[in-house]
Amino acid sequence: MLAANFVQQGTCRRLGLCTRLFSSTLRNKHENPLGLPRRPGPVPQIPRKGGPIQKRPIPHVNKVLAVASGKGGVGKSTVAVNLAFSLAMLKPKSLGRRMRVGILDLDIFGPSVPMLMGLQHTDEPPLTPGGAILPVINHGLPTMSMGYLLPKSESGSREDAAVVWRGLTVQKAVQQLLFDVDWRDAGNGPGLDVLVVDLPPGTGDVQLTLGQLVVVDGAVIVSTPQDVALADVRRGISMFRKVSVPITGTVLNQSYFVCPSCVTPHYVFGSPTAFRATATSLNVPVLGELPLVKSVSRGGDGGVPYMLTASKEQADEDNAGGAVWRNVMQEMAENVWQALEGK
Ligand SMILES: Nc1ncnc2c1ncn2[C@@H]1O[C@H](COP(=O)(O)OP(=O)(O)OP(=O)(O)O)[C@@H](O)[C@H]1O
Ligand SMILES: [Mg+2]
Repeated sequence: MLAANFVQQGTCRRLGLCTRLFSSTLRNKHENPLGLPRRPGPVPQIPRKGGPIQKRPIPHVNKVLAVASGKGGVGKSTVAVNLAFSLAMLKPKSLGRRMRVGILDLDIFGPSVPMLMGLQHTDEPPLTPGGAILPVINHGLPTMSMGYLLPKSESGSREDAAVVWRGLTVQKAVQQLLFDVDWRDAGNGPGLDVLVVDLPPGTGDVQLTLGQLVVVDGAVIVSTPQDVALADVRRGISMFRKVSVPITGTVLNQSYFVCPSCVTPHYVFGSPTAFRATATSLNVPVLGELPLVKSVSRGGDGGVPYMLTASKEQADEDNAGGAVWRNVMQEMAENVWQALEGK
């Protein structure tokens, strides 16, 4: 693979940009799963047998915000993407301009960011002459995901492609996604104010690799009202605390539904009381409670995140729930930025 990469490097250096990331043969795949050219400088390693933890900043990123939950399907990716756009819409006084925000999808086995961003058919991202991966941009937001690196089938789709890797290879791929993406605008402009990291469910290798190797400035924990989700929230918070990641707050998603014919919230998955009590007992701020909104789901499937859709026509269609969703998300972005900035 390395030999292949050196040949490739020579050609693409002349072209200015390098492509074909996922060209790896089996040899060395374990060390370099994304098939990137070798780059100067040591790659941070997970310490073996309790050695000191070396946390590093992500290159060209000011603040890192993880969006996580111990449980699957609670809306982490939906919240991560919409929160990223809400942050990007902010114009904090301290910056005097709109925020520069990106999204990193660390869900290696089930990446959702390509679909949520309308990028599932995008070409493989190019490499810079220095061998770093350039993010893929849509709706003005730079993104990176394992989903862009999978080989396409003959029909041009990646939907059937599956990553079949063991733990160590996953860990290496995560390291490459963390440290080998060039988040600067076009590879040489300004970097990001905030990188939102969408995590897979659980408290496994990916979460640990992130928490142990990277300076993470905050974590938003997503839950749904059911007891089974709250138990996973506790586990998620406990894991982040073990690796000294500050918990910015928790958000209750799919909290209630407002049907088209009334204005009463219907708590279809149970009352939010247990969620609020859990947050209080863990001393974690509640960032917001988001309702179930049909267009949030439809926007995700259609690759246009809800926070981007025109408010007037959408509000008519979504009744009270849609307006609440937007307001809560916007407020959440303000509070999250305040917490990150104050660090
Ligand atoms: N508030 C909401 N209103 C309506 N639909 C929602 C809401 N939140 C999430 N969904 C829908 O629920 C489904 C699961 O959401 P999502 O993929 O964001 O969850 P996840 O926690 O990231 O899942 P995974 O654990 O598989 O990564 C999606 O179809 C999404 O559109
Ligand atoms: Mg997800």
